Amino acid sequence: MNVLLRVMTDELAELNETRSLTRRRFLGISLAGGAALLAGKTDLALGAETSTSSNMATNPTFTLGSDFTVKRLGFGAMRITGEGIWGWPPDRQNALKVLRRAVELGVNLIDTADAYGPDTSELLIAEALYPYPKGLVIATKGGLTRPGPGQWVPDCRPEHLKQAVDGSLKRLRLGRIDLYQLHTVDRKVPIEESVGALKQLRDAGKIRHIGLSNVDRREIESARKIVPIVSVQNRYNIEDRKSEDVLVYCEKEKLGFLPWFPIGGGGGLKPKNPLNTAAKAHGVSVFQVALAWLLERSPVMLPIPGTSSLAHLEENVAAAKLKLTPEEWKAIDGLAGWSFFRALAKRLQSA
Ligand SMILES: NC(=O)c1ccc[n+]([C@@H]2O[C@H](COP(=O)([O-])OP(=O)(O)OC[C@H]3O[C@@H](n4cnc5c(N)ncnc54)[C@H](OP(=O)(O)O)[C@@H]3O)[C@@H](O)[C@H]2O)c1
Repeated sequence: MNVLLRVMTDELAELNETRSLTRRRFLGISLAGGAALLAGKTDLALGAETSTSSNMATNPTFTLGSDFTVKRLGFGAMRITGEGIWGWPPDRQNALKVLRRAVELGVNLIDTADAYGPDTSELLIAEALYPYPKGLVIATKGGLTRPGPGQWVPDCRPEHLKQAVDGSLKRLRLGRIDLYQLHTVDRKVPIEESVGALKQLRDAGKIRHIGLSNVDRREIESARKIVPIVSVQNRYNIEDRKSEDVLVYCEKEKLGFLPWFPIGGGGGLKPKNPLNTAAKAHGVSVFQVALAWLLERSPVMLPIPGTSSLAHLEENVAAAKLKLTPEEWKAIDGLAGWSFFRALAKRLQSA
């Protein structure tokens, strides 16, 4: 039986939490982290240790698969739909302007999904940008259906995914989708079956690369036994790092990591001291600092901030040029509480 998931943006967060990381699992990660710390394996336990101040990521681009080099700051096209990610936006012309401006500003990775609207996000992308400029990667997703506003129901059966890909190809006016992401894992369908269907679509030339979303490490590993995976999209931001282990895995395996809710999903990210301090020092907004922190966190990080506002878009894109000092980066890094583990690791190492 389908589990009806309530939506709006914050309910999407719930979906990710229940799908990709149960509380029990989070506790498991924490315990595993603690055990690794005790064993002195701080890089394994803390993940972020791979990118501390001396090793902050600076690469401006990332190559998905072996062929699509994109700027690491992309655009999330979920917010250009109507309220509740349902229907057409109140100002359709503005949505088209936002999309065109993103490309003008150099963005060449746009994230969308058949579920956004549904359909309207993909239709607006084609209306604004087709014929597409060379090098623009449109990453769409399938596997979540929308019976009504505020409702998101997983359907990752092979037959549904095949229909979904055909629908996205038509709406986006594409012959092939460069990056197609499985939007979630359907508890009724083994992930192997869902990605098996995507593999067939890839073999048929309808998809170039396959990505996953809202997954844990085990699910990524299972999927990779069936077909190469080039990216993962999970919720992640300075305050919410429950997918830290997935990010560390992506870094190790050179998979792109697209953090959704990179600036907290509208309301989630509260200005805190280290954020405000850095924002003031650089004369920028806390959202720009949050994006700069993400970009420096890992070379595989591809944030896709979403906005319906031209001014916010300009601001977000400009964040790619912002460089935090190692001290600022560290202070912000501490906001999620990982500093506690780091301090413990240091104490154990020096003991
Ligand atoms: N895979 C999944 O399950 C999943 C789930 C959620 C989202 N996503 C993807 O991830 C993308 C990003 O997530 P998101 O859009 O939900 O969250 P987000 O990027 O963290 O935040 C977007 C929210 O912040 C506001 N905002 C954006 N830039 C701002 C700025 N410079 N200053 C102040 N406010 C700003 C936006 O409002 P304004 O419109 O007023 O700017 C919007 O309410 C989505 O667009 C979508 O493509 C994927």
